[in-house]
Amino acid sequence: MTMRLRRLTPCIGAEVEGIDLRAPLTSEHAQSIHEAMDKHAVLVFRAQALSDDEHAAFTRALGEMEDARGSSLRAATDFRLPTNFADVSNLDGNHKPYGPGDRGRLFAIGNRLWHSDSSFKPIPAKYSLLRAVCIPSRGGNTEFAHMGAAYEALDEETRTLIEDLVCEHSQLFSRESIGFTDFTPEERSRFRPVRQRLVRTLPGTGRKSIYLSSHAGGIVGWPLPEARLLLRDLTEHATQPRFVYSHRWQVNDLVMWDNRQTMHRARPFPAHEPRDMRRTTLKGDAPTVLEQAA
Ligand SMILES: [Fe+2]
Repeated sequence: MTMRLRRLTPCIGAEVEGIDLRAPLTSEHAQSIHEAMDKHAVLVFRAQALSDDEHAAFTRALGEMEDARGSSLRAATDFRLPTNFADVSNLDGNHKPYGPGDRGRLFAIGNRLWHSDSSFKPIPAKYSLLRAVCIPSRGGNTEFAHMGAAYEALDEETRTLIEDLVCEHSQLFSRESIGFTDFTPEERSRFRPVRQRLVRTLPGTGRKSIYLSSHAGGIVGWPLPEARLLLRDLTEHATQPRFVYSHRWQVNDLVMWDNRQTMHRARPFPAHEPRDMRRTTLKGDAPTVLEQAA
């Protein structure tokens, strides 16, 4: 197999052709994929009719998988997938779309805010691998923004300002920003904030990026309004169209992105139509701050 890459935009994303993800991944191909991820940040694999097991096996060939439990409000009775999958669908345990006012759904649609997966965990995610099993008739694109390119486009003064800042991330913050505050004491404890650097360096390339996410709700040592305004300004800057690739899904697409150097968001679609999307996630290597004060 010869893997070929085709750029999707000048800034971010490439489509990968000439590889069957059902086949065991050779170490050469794994290496090529890591290098392509460092370079393009988002890789699109079309027409990959994978089972959940094949999807998980491909993920494990690239690194250690994250456990998906505890990150959503999905009830245990609504689990449809293995515990190392994040169920990004709008479907309940009976494979039916959640009602418009369902609490779990209202929490889940927070993924329409720009974010980086698992930035609310002490060791945040490396790659996410999302596969389309069933898609709605319209809408539901996923958009990706390149945080390395966004960093490089900052003026020198802003780069200096943010270089050593540390943010507090929590799903409480992202949901609060869209008016969802309906959390139980157990959920508030489970979602307590963690700290992340605002500027990260990608180990494979030395390229710096802004580590933003809707989960970021404060900056250590800063007054809250000032912190949130800076985060809002940075997010506005970093998500300009010149840094963005918008993925229009087809069934059996697998899209992989690097959470260390991108943000992404889902776009709306008709809520009564099934959208079955399944995600595996690779663990990050280490915390972004030395002392992880949760
Ligand atoms: Fe996400």
